[in-house]
Amino acid sequence: MREAIARAEVGDDAYGEDPTVAALEAEIAELFGHEAALFTPTGSMANQIAVQLLVPPGAELLCDADAHVVSYESGAAAALGGITTRTWPAAGARLDPAVVAGMIRPEGYSAVPTRAIAIEQTHNRAGGAVLPLATLRELRRIADETGVGLHCDGARIWHAHIADGVPLREYGVLFDTLSVCLSKGLGAPVGSVVVASAEKIERARRIRKRMGGGMRQAGVLAAAGRYALRHHVARLAEDHARAARLAEALAPFGVVSGEVRTNIVPLDLSGSALDAPTLSAAARAEGVLISVLGPRAARLVTHLDVDDAGVEHAIAVLTRLLRRPS
Ligand SMILES: Cc1ncc(COP(=O)(O)O)c(C=O)c1O
Repeated sequence: MREAIARAEVGDDAYGEDPTVAALEAEIAELFGHEAALFTPTGSMANQIAVQLLVPPGAELLCDADAHVVSYESGAAAALGGITTRTWPAAGARLDPAVVAGMIRPEGYSAVPTRAIAIEQTHNRAGGAVLPLATLRELRRIADETGVGLHCDGARIWHAHIADGVPLREYGVLFDTLSVCLSKGLGAPVGSVVVASAEKIERARRIRKRMGGGMRQAGVLAAAGRYALRHHVARLAEDHARAARLAEALAPFGVVSGEVRTNIVPLDLSGSALDAPTLSAAARAEGVLISVLGPRAARLVTHLDVDDAGVEHAIAVLTRLLRRPS
């Protein structure tokens, strides 16, 4: 990847003259069966651009209560887009499309009309859960019937593609907009991409500029993304297998909350002597990094920098800590 970065041909992307950025955008649009795509510095910016494409100020977006777009993007939909967000109770992959359909509000005097629905594939806070294709198809049908847009926060859509074997294009064509990320499981240092129609991507370019996300010789970053697409998608199966191994080893402690299908192992420490910050600090001291999601909730993630030896080390450290009496 470092070599691909060093060799990247670059130009000024503010003028649409960076050939590596253009190639990345064309490749990703094609992969998802859309007309166009736009490179952004972060997944949050990609999501917020997409949401602004679908929802005008004063209208609303519906999403899961635990969605990244409403939980971890610093209130950007409201602060930057003037968008109201209403959430359905956190459901992860068990989302019932009928619940979403029941929430859609029509246009009307003093109403806040629903203009878009956002889903997350895979679902980060739901432990990397994979929404079934049938659920997504039903959401598409509801969106068509009610005239609202459908956005996919596909930061980890690659993982869903590997876990369920659904072609990326089959996912892509179900949505009006997608954001996909190159810097998480795929291991590029920077970058996400908004995928949509040519008309929407033209508007997206202006919104990105307004957010300060227009970049110049960004081909060095796009080159890393192109390398990641070629070399780091199929191997996600290894990360999934390592997460399953972690989950299996920790299962006897009753701390793994939910089925582990991809690269995230969610931990619920309610019944454990250690709370999440204590476990995280003790594990960190032995070289095992854990995300704390709440006082009793944590998350283990496997990725391309974690090999089998790393997983076995994590298992040894965590089982010792979890076994320790308080
Ligand atoms: C599901 C999901 N969407 C979007 C993002 C935002 O990505 P970034 O950190 O690049 O802004 C994340 C980050 O973890 C995420 O998990």
